[in-house]
Amino acid sequence: MNGEPVTLRINGAERPVGAVAPWTTLLTILREELGLTGAKRGCNQGVCGACTVMVEGEPVRSCLSLAMNCTDREIATVEGLAPAGSLAPVQQALAEGNAVQCGFCTPGILIAAHALLRRNEPLSVDDVRVGLSGNLCRCSGYKKIVEAIVRASEARP
Ligand code: FES
Ligand code: FES
Repeated sequence: MNGEPVTLRINGAERPVGAVAPWTTLLTILREELGLTGAKRGCNQGVCGACTVMVEGEPVRSCLSLAMNCTDREIATVEGLAPAGSLAPVQQALAEGNAVQCGFCTPGILIAAHALLRRNEPLSVDDVRVGLSGNLCRCSGYKKIVEAIVRASEARP
């Protein structure tokens, strides 16, 4: 690939990526160079939210983010939500609430929910609906997803 060699900081680890062309998206690097396939390529144009990751603590569309612009930023993907072999509380909540159908939207929803749950208060159904309004679920299982995230917010110590 043409371009500059870069290193990205992902889930707390330095990840050398090699040469990255200026137009290469973060999503492409995550999935095709680093094997981090949790973030999904749905629409690839910023609409569906399936590619959502955290950059500097905020959810972003990795299909619209240029990798070159992320070199000095902290990136977190769904793979880093919990240590290997365990589930974060929000992952546990979706699993227990049968809130996953095909699962394609789930990584993006988990990242959006993770960002929402940083608010230190119980979330209402409307809070979650607004917070997830940028994440589409083609299986349309929104009710169980929203209910699971509300429960996760109520269960926090
Ligand atoms: S793949 Fe990025 S928003 Fe749909
Ligand atoms: S569970 Fe299938 S797209 Fe959401």
